[in-house]
Amino acid sequence: MYERHCQSCHGPNGRGDGPAAASLKVPPANFQRFQSFLKSDEELLRTIEHGVVFSPMHAWRGRLTDGEMQDVVAYIRVLSQRGQ
Ligand code: HEC
Repeated sequence: MYERHCQSCHGPNGRGDGPAAASLKVPPANFQRFQSFLKSDEELLRTIEHGVVFSPMHAWRGRLTDGEMQDVVAYIRVLSQRGQ
């Protein structure tokens, strides 16, 4: 799911270096950064659900089910630990 929906911007390892990132005005979040790492699952889930205002990160509510959003948060956690 991550590969299909998120990787183009956030990159294969969650560093925000996906192929679509170069053309964005706002750089995608790097999940291996400390700030992302410190955020709670609820905060990350809220961002995915509602998106980030004025950024290419749009809301996924309606496109992904609640279960899918939870799965993708879990996947981001795995990615963010890989770089430690
Ligand atoms: C069109 C490019 C794009 C796609 C596709 C995309 N994102 Fe993002 N994402 C962004 C950008 C840009 C930001 C940073 C926004 C900002 O900080 O202003 C972001 C931020 C985030 C954040 C916040 C991180 C933090 O530290 O606060 C999360 C979580 C996130 N994205 C998850 C996802 C997930 C999960 C998917 C797939 C379902 C996804 N994104 C798909 C561009 C994208």
